[in-house]
Amino acid sequence: MSTINKTKLPPGPKTKLPLGHLFSFRRNSLGFLIEIAREYGDIVHFKIGPFRVVLLNHPDFIKEVLTTQHRNFVKGRPLEMAKELLGEGLLTSEGEFHKRQSQIIQPAFHRKMIESYAPAMTEYATRLINGWEDGMTVDIMEEMVKLSTSIAGKTMFNVDIEREAPEINQALNTVMSLFGRITLPFSEWLLKLPLPGTNRFYKAKARLDHTIYSIIDERRRSKWDNGDLLSLLLRSQHENGGAGGMSDQQVRDEALTLFLTALDTTSLALNWTWYLLSQNREAEAKLHEEVDRVLQGRIPTAEDFTQLKYTRMVLGESMRIYPPIYVISRQAVEDFSIDQYIVPAGTIVLMSPYLIHHDPRFHPDPEQFNPAAWDKHSTGLSSKYEYFPFSRGPRSCIGESYAWMEGVLVLATLAQSWRFKLVPDHPVELLPLLNLRPKYGMMMQLHRRK
Ligand code: HEM
Repeated sequence: MSTINKTKLPPGPKTKLPLGHLFSFRRNSLGFLIEIAREYGDIVHFKIGPFRVVLLNHPDFIKEVLTTQHRNFVKGRPLEMAKELLGEGLLTSEGEFHKRQSQIIQPAFHRKMIESYAPAMTEYATRLINGWEDGMTVDIMEEMVKLSTSIAGKTMFNVDIEREAPEINQALNTVMSLFGRITLPFSEWLLKLPLPGTNRFYKAKARLDHTIYSIIDERRRSKWDNGDLLSLLLRSQHENGGAGGMSDQQVRDEALTLFLTALDTTSLALNWTWYLLSQNREAEAKLHEEVDRVLQGRIPTAEDFTQLKYTRMVLGESMRIYPPIYVISRQAVEDFSIDQYIVPAGTIVLMSPYLIHHDPRFHPDPEQFNPAAWDKHSTGLSSKYEYFPFSRGPRSCIGESYAWMEGVLVLATLAQSWRFKLVPDHPVELLPLLNLRPKYGMMMQLHRRK
């Protein structure tokens, strides 16, 4: 039994630099976290500028923050930058306000609705491959972003934004690269200075706003209501007659939040899955066997989801090795106790699915891509917090079932007729910005399956 020690913070690296570990963290956030976890263990304390940060590196401690003591934690400071883009959307808002918004939006993610999105998912996947030629080289990351953007546009707003996708993605890349460079302290000052990066950020934000506001205006004019996400948002505005209902800004914040979180994460999950399959021919062959057997050459539907078991294992294992969101952060409202420590209010808490998913204590042979083992892990885990690419607890991902449906249907549709080979010597390196990106894209050669 451990005893509480009020004065002692968890161990961790010390520095005399006034900005603490800001530069090491900024240079390579994931590498830094891996290194300190290796050296200091399951709870590590360090400073970034004036901020205390605690890294939790054990599922039991992560459960404390995400679930058991969740009321004591807010998104807080680490999400400030995201607010500059997303406003008070579901990802960034807090408390009662978040709860109310969440209730309005939930119906768009009910099982029946998710199933109704399946035809759009496979239709855009089919359109994508119709433009491919045998032997062609593509950046599969870009292709997956294009695809996820079109799918998100259709399923959430019932619009076809295939043609606008490249421009939207350019804006998104600009925003993401700025998020990556500006870490915790002083970011709000930087956004007030007329720096080139800041100007690019606001231009990109204006581009994304333009798209979202035109979609909202068009829908208002058409008065179309099919129960999709945008219908729910506008309905809530209408039903409340402006009194307590969502403002235009609020509709924009929620719509943009869901659109961006959906397309960014699912495209990454698919990108890493194609990469892992290209490196593991046995798993690829099993996947082909399954899609050929289950689908017999037809386009998959929502009903095929349960039959495509190995396809699901492939996606699940890929998100274990490369969780698109590699670190989840919170800020403590009051002092809190964890293990034998009392950590002061205001401390930023980091929890990394990447670190936990690669820890041999919880995942034997963690660097090995082994979809069959994922099934075993996922059912035999002693704690759900050993695998948490979608986070856990009350603030976990609202789009999890959506992501599974899109991931599985896209994998099955594409794998039926195509294989992907990594271009020889193409460098594959992680770029941990807000999420886990391939630093040099993912150049792949397309091969039509015979
Ligand atoms: C493979 C795909 C996805 C992954 C790995 C993923 C992962 C996550 C994670 C880790 C969080 C928690 C973030 C935090 O606590 O700071 C989260 C939250 C969220 N995700 Fe996802 N996500 C995915 C797909 C989606 C999709 C498809 C949508 C929407 C259609 C979506 C919408 C959201 C929203 C709105 C939140 C905030 C929920 C809240 O705080 O109440 N995500 N996601």
